[in-house]
Amino acid sequence: MGMDRKSVNLAVIGLGGRGTGLMQSLLDMEDVSVVAVCDLYEERVEGALKCIRESGRTLAEAYSDYKMLLAREDIEGVIIATTWVTHAEIAIAAMRAGKYAGIEVGGAASTQECWELVRTSEETGMPCMLLENCCYGRDELAVMNIVKQGLLGELIHGQCGYEHDLREEVAMGIENKHGRFHNYLHRNGELYPIHGLGPISKTFNINRGNRLLMLTSMSSKARGIKQWATNQFGENDTKAKLEFAQGDIVTTMIKCAGGETIQIIHDTTLPRPYSRAGRVQGTKGLWMEDNNSIHIEGRSENHKWESFDSYREAYEHPLWKQYLAQGVRGGHGGMDYLVLRAFIESVRNGTQTPIDVYDTAVWMSITALSEESVALGSMPVAIPDFTKGKWINREPAPVSAYELDAIHEDKYEE
Ligand SMILES: NC(=O)c1ccc[n+]([C@@H]2O[C@H](COP(=O)([O-])OP(=O)(O)OC[C@H]3O[C@@H](n4cnc5c(N)ncnc54)[C@H](O)[C@@H]3O)[C@@H](O)[C@H]2O)c1
Repeated sequence: MGMDRKSVNLAVIGLGGRGTGLMQSLLDMEDVSVVAVCDLYEERVEGALKCIRESGRTLAEAYSDYKMLLAREDIEGVIIATTWVTHAEIAIAAMRAGKYAGIEVGGAASTQECWELVRTSEETGMPCMLLENCCYGRDELAVMNIVKQGLLGELIHGQCGYEHDLREEVAMGIENKHGRFHNYLHRNGELYPIHGLGPISKTFNINRGNRLLMLTSMSSKARGIKQWATNQFGENDTKAKLEFAQGDIVTTMIKCAGGETIQIIHDTTLPRPYSRAGRVQGTKGLWMEDNNSIHIEGRSENHKWESFDSYREAYEHPLWKQYLAQGVRGGHGGMDYLVLRAFIESVRNGTQTPIDVYDTAVWMSITALSEESVALGSMPVAIPDFTKGKWINREPAPVSAYELDAIHEDKYEE
């Protein structure tokens, strides 16, 4: 990072575990200044200010009302790491205030709020980027590279999910002031589709030559949290008596305009190891995350898996080659740093973000549409075309090292 690079002024709104973690990553970046922080809980604001003091960076100004924060002229972009049901409202206000909006992962509660994101971004010219770190995951990007080089043939099917044992986080949400609790108590659907759907969408050219057409969702019964609370506190505890609306396993099937299918699994309230359940399958073979494996007709032994390890090495995305050479840092195996850098580069250059408002809107809409489908007995529901037909013949995305729609080898240092 050379001294000639202009410092980018950012604010962080929402200072739970995630917002505070992202802020700490930003404090390590010499070319970024965290000039304001905001949360409804005073102790979280105090905690953030303490981190900034300890980092030796200039102290940020503290807010409890994000509207006051957004009124500041010097802020160029905001990182919104609040609870799910507040993301759209704050992002819309941020764009109206002339700031780049970076939204943490989470689904929408209605498609109207997604349309409002799109219209606000179009009217104000301000980008809105869903900060989907998994789009910058090492394996996800290697698989994208493999697909772009034609190794899997024509794409037919994708699978993904959020398979993460969150029983304690959800059940203890009141004590720990965690936003997931209320959603699981009252909602039932694909609450967290984007860690999987984000990378799959980019690999399947969604919003650029392809689009998500319709979905159907099915939800199982809900037992996991009740069982966990009973085991922890006994059956007479108030927690063990709660009836959660959210089914333990929610499966969503999406049909794409190109004829491909995508399956998403939400599996967060049963005992299990973590997985994003990735699978990308085409006419020549498939990659599968769960056993770190790949099979390509003509290369792999018939009917046999190969380890993905040698393919990851041979088809490493050039962004990751460069990153490994320069030193991987930050959370979640390094992808958190990359998604922040992608956002910051766009803010600094005044360019469109590599995940734009159309990606953001359609990914977030899956949650609301899945709830609708579950409520209607798994009825198929149409997924809006937020691009209003532009997906058919989109102008190419701005070329950058962080681009997720094409791979430009010449953008990277060896
Ligand atoms: N990308 C990832 O890998 C990753 C990892 C963890 C969490 N997340 C996402 O980050 C977000 C935050 O997660 P968390 O675990 O920190 O949640 P959390 O519920 O612990 O924290 C959210 C914070 O937002 C604050 N908030 C809510 N409304 C606000 C408002 N109007 N103004 C200011 N502050 C407000 C709350 O007071 C709370 O402190 C969620 O969307 C979550 O899904 C993403």
